[in-house]
Amino acid sequence: MDEGTNRTLTQTGAGTPMGGLLRRYWHPVAAVAELDDHPVKAVRLLGEDLALYRDRAGTYGLIDRHCAHRRADLTCGIVEGEGLRCGYHGWRYDHTGRCVEQPYEDTAEPGSRSKERILLKAYKVEALAGLTQGLLGLAPKLAGSRLVDGRFMGVQQSIAVPKGKDAGLLFLRGVVEEAKRSGLVARAIERTGAKGVSVAPLAR
Ligand code: FES
Repeated sequence: MDEGTNRTLTQTGAGTPMGGLLRRYWHPVAAVAELDDHPVKAVRLLGEDLALYRDRAGTYGLIDRHCAHRRADLTCGIVEGEGLRCGYHGWRYDHTGRCVEQPYEDTAEPGSRSKERILLKAYKVEALAGLTQGLLGLAPKLAGSRLVDGRFMGVQQSIAVPKGKDAGLLFLRGVVEEAKRSGLVARAIERTGAKGVSVAPLAR
């Protein structure tokens, strides 16, 4: 594999082909229990630094790790009844990334609407069978999740990919087709010893 292909396949930041593809999927972020002792956790997901938290009302948030004011680290913040308060000057954010309180500004200028212009990056996050799952892109429904005897058995993801428009998917499809043409896939199946397994053509 040449360097460029390697880079394309492994880089997952926002704006990269694989990053675009992976942002169509839900990803495990942390165990719910990890928030029991301390309800805020720093996470790095698909190259993005985020703060995962559970507020006192039980709502989960997955927002930019850095405050919009002076970029203080929000994982040093304080969870409240609703949202997460920055530990530096006290701005409070909800799970949608909106700034809902600015203690100084709200006191010095009652009725000020300056906080309405502030919005942090925020992603969907849901707790399912002991795991928090985050979605960093489009919003397919977290559907078909199955709990059997209280245990997590899997998540089926419903993903609508616009045909011919997803660069990451097209690239991956090309790589898979090439691997099939070269006999790589057939050899890999042969090695497993599986009988009667064939590879169906990729749906267009
Ligand atoms: S740095 Fe967060 S409120 Fe000032």
